[in-house]
Amino acid sequence: MKVFDTWESEIRGYSRAYPTVFQSASNARQVDEDGRSYIDFFGGAGVLNFGHNNPSMKQAVIDFIQADGVAHSLDMATTVKRAFIEAFAAIILEPRNMHYKMQFMGPTGTNAVEAALKLARRVTGRRNVVAFSHGFHGMTLGSLACTANSYFRKAAGVPLENVIRLPYETATGGGIDCLKEFHCSLADPSSGIEPPAAFVVEAIQAEGGVHVASKEWLHAVQRLARDTGALFIIDDIQAGCGRTGSYFSFDGMGLDPDIITLAKGIGGFGTPLAMNLNKPEHDQHWSPGEHTGTFRGQGISFVAGREALRYFMDDTFMGNVRDKGERMRAFLQGIAEKHSGRGFDVRGSGMMQAIDIGDGATAKAIATACFESGLLIGPCGSGGRVLKLIPPLTIPDDDLNEGLSLLAKAVDTLLEAV
Ligand SMILES: Cc1ncc(COP(=O)(O)O)c(C=O)c1O
Repeated sequence: MKVFDTWESEIRGYSRAYPTVFQSASNARQVDEDGRSYIDFFGGAGVLNFGHNNPSMKQAVIDFIQADGVAHSLDMATTVKRAFIEAFAAIILEPRNMHYKMQFMGPTGTNAVEAALKLARRVTGRRNVVAFSHGFHGMTLGSLACTANSYFRKAAGVPLENVIRLPYETATGGGIDCLKEFHCSLADPSSGIEPPAAFVVEAIQAEGGVHVASKEWLHAVQRLARDTGALFIIDDIQAGCGRTGSYFSFDGMGLDPDIITLAKGIGGFGTPLAMNLNKPEHDQHWSPGEHTGTFRGQGISFVAGREALRYFMDDTFMGNVRDKGERMRAFLQGIAEKHSGRGFDVRGSGMMQAIDIGDGATAKAIATACFESGLLIGPCGSGGRVLKLIPPLTIPDDDLNEGLSLLAKAVDTLLEAV
């Protein structure tokens, strides 16, 4: 680790939590330079939905490179981009009767959120957007203004403006009544609140601590957006791409977002890609090249991302994800019941499951004990009090079971010691 300590910025985070040098990775396992194998319940923070070095993606990427495919093309038309767009339309959009334009931008989630905010402001001619407590939307200034966590916000060094914060459904003061009150304020020309350009929301808050919104509340947010002339944006960057047991985290809820932001898992292989789905009537407000980015769409990500879409051609894979998610949830409930005096809370959807330990120091100590016993797991939420489990969706049963046992052992050992 000496090279990293000497030369790499103090900003590094995960290499402190997992102090080893990883050399190789396959599906839900990462192996370090000493040959120690770790089960991955972290999944690249939602990037590696289809596992490390997914075999079909790996082969497709090797074939692509060997054939001198176009790896970088800004937003020029390429055969691999066409194949991805065609597959996304045929496998994801058309069966859901969803009509959207696909916009590629710089390949990270925060780029997708920035583009969505810019488009909403352009369409409505308004400035403010509504974002929710515990929300996480990225680190660049526009999306950071929407991100709630004060640790990240403080690092901005400039005021983070043009965002109105409302409590998320599950936060104190949140719920449909709160949305109704906000609606009344917007209707009152003397409330001092300007009508917003957009409401930006995660159907399941991932980094914010795995808070799951109800269908009713999400519909109330959508209605409020429609009634007040604002756009309804769902940020599905972490919860989308199959994580919850359906392609979109809000599938089956009858919602109709104006913009959907996607990134992380959409590139399939761990190479970056971000894509917004814009309703065509909003998308037409863009002029060519107005929101650029040198890395708008990567050949390798298109190739791997196209392979990833094969998992969604029928419901077999997603059914499997829902089953595994149920098992994860039941296991975590078992931990919570065993330590019932501690008030642990289990939350999640599909294969994003979490146990809220109640305080960040204990959660961190559990995560450290997990690492020492060969399991990678990441804390999230206020003060890092929530242990979030997001293994690759392709994790073999044996690894899933072993990882869950390691977590249970770490909790038992830690709590006995406290
Ligand atoms: C819901 C959500 N939106 C946006 C982002 C930002 O994505 P990126 O880190 O790729 O910029 C994240 C990252 O965790 C996220 O979870």
